Amino acid sequence: MRGRFIVFEGIDGCGKTTQALLLATRLREDGYRVLFTEEPTRDLVTGNLVKLLLKSKETPPPESYLLLFLADRIHHMKNRIGPALERGEVVISDRYHYSSLAYQGAQGVEMGRIDGVLEVLGVELIEPDVVFLVDVPVEVALERMAKVRNTTEVYEKREFLEKVRENYLRLAEKLGFVVVNGDRDVEEIHGEIYEKVKELLSR
Ligand code: TMP
Repeated sequence: MRGRFIVFEGIDGCGKTTQALLLATRLREDGYRVLFTEEPTRDLVTGNLVKLLLKSKETPPPESYLLLFLADRIHHMKNRIGPALERGEVVISDRYHYSSLAYQGAQGVEMGRIDGVLEVLGVELIEPDVVFLVDVPVEVALERMAKVRNTTEVYEKREFLEKVRENYLRLAEKLGFVVVNGDRDVEEIHGEIYEKVKELLSR
């Protein structure tokens, strides 16, 4: 039987990585075989290319970002996510295609065109069984990030993240994501997500 594919999305600083990792640990304790993975990928060559771009002082056009993120996604999907699902594992991905829609959308790429690129390439995305959108106000995300990183361009960042958050909320409504209020105690959020996932896994 094909495994289950669970995706976590949200703006930077929303707490989705913490939640994805907590869920992975809990499901392993329950005896499931779990692949925890992420985009940009950590150990694939395409993920390294994306990270080079993100660290660079150059700011290429949004379409250049999009193509690199897509290159990484296609590699990730075909060579990591797909095979793990075939083996019957639970795949938990910290970010997936909706990050491109929300972020590159906020950078100015028309969302409809993003799926159009995949269509031209003849690439069909593996659909997740559930997408959790960990939602927090931008203010909260910025406060959290300020504690762990040096954020300099706060105002620019704020405006950009507002757009990303709006895009996510619109996508959530259109595509039926599970929106989780991320501005709460970590364990409380985890409990809510775990309940939903257990229900999914029992189907
Ligand atoms: P991370 O901080 O979750 O590792 O993600 C790196 C950054 O890349 C984050 O700001 C979101 C952004 N991103 C996109 O803009 N498009 C994408 O398709 C993905 C996967 C990430």
